[in-house]
Amino acid sequence: MSKINIKISLILLISCIFILSACGKGEKVTGSEGKTLSVGTEATFAPFEFMSKGKVTGFDVDLLNAVAKKAGYKVDIKNTGWDTMMAGIQDNSIDVGMAGITINEKRKKSYDFSHPYFESINMIVVGKDSTVKNAMDLKGKKIGVQNGTTGQMASEKLFGANNKNILKYETSAMAFMALENGDVDAVVTDNAVANEYVKKNPDKNVKTVDDKTNFSSEYYGILLPKSSSLKSKFDKALNEIFDDGTYTDIYKKWFGVEPDIKPLKAAQE
Ligand code: ARG
Repeated sequence: MSKINIKISLILLISCIFILSACGKGEKVTGSEGKTLSVGTEATFAPFEFMSKGKVTGFDVDLLNAVAKKAGYKVDIKNTGWDTMMAGIQDNSIDVGMAGITINEKRKKSYDFSHPYFESINMIVVGKDSTVKNAMDLKGKKIGVQNGTTGQMASEKLFGANNKNILKYETSAMAFMALENGDVDAVVTDNAVANEYVKKNPDKNVKTVDDKTNFSSEYYGILLPKSSSLKSKFDKALNEIFDDGTYTDIYKKWFGVEPDIKPLKAAQE
């Protein structure tokens, strides 16, 4: 090989490495029809995200697909687990987090969120014959929560951070399993998920208990990296699907009733 040839091969090699490493991180370019965003989730959170026939499915999946489509993106949703999703957005290995994620001040310091797309509140799940009537009745009882979620935060607010009776599980499903096994007396989780679990498990002898005094209303948003350029695009797309009936169709598919979009819009910043 001549010197020039060696030089050219070297330049080619270096640019290949450069292109490959650029593609490895963040948004992947898939051609002129738009980018494919890598999306992380924790898919044991029906009806928002759960595994069905090896695929992540649920309200969040349909909603994100609709929002991304309007914004000109494709999505690749992977069941990464909660912690990997949260970390992945910060180190740019994941572009978007979609997991019934509550918008709160603490998270807003490290992440961006889309406009709110769903209103939620924590709820208690206990055995059918439990005497628990509200959250204060959980005092001294073992509470199962998904680690790092608002169920944990709400329980700690009532009974103290690092309280030994608050047991933290990696997934939402594991917290429910702990209830089934008798490892905990109650699970504190998002109301739609609590209701779905009780409805889908009539044989497990469980019931929900709500408490609108000790728990407060929350909004879900699509999780994005801080100062993401996707934020304005997703916000615009979300408002478009609120207005063109797409959101209503998706909501009715998963919840069987009409959504109330007004309070969601009123909560936009
Ligand atoms: N909304 C709660 C939070 O943001 C719980 C979300 C849990 N989501 C899940 N896919 N496991 O903390």
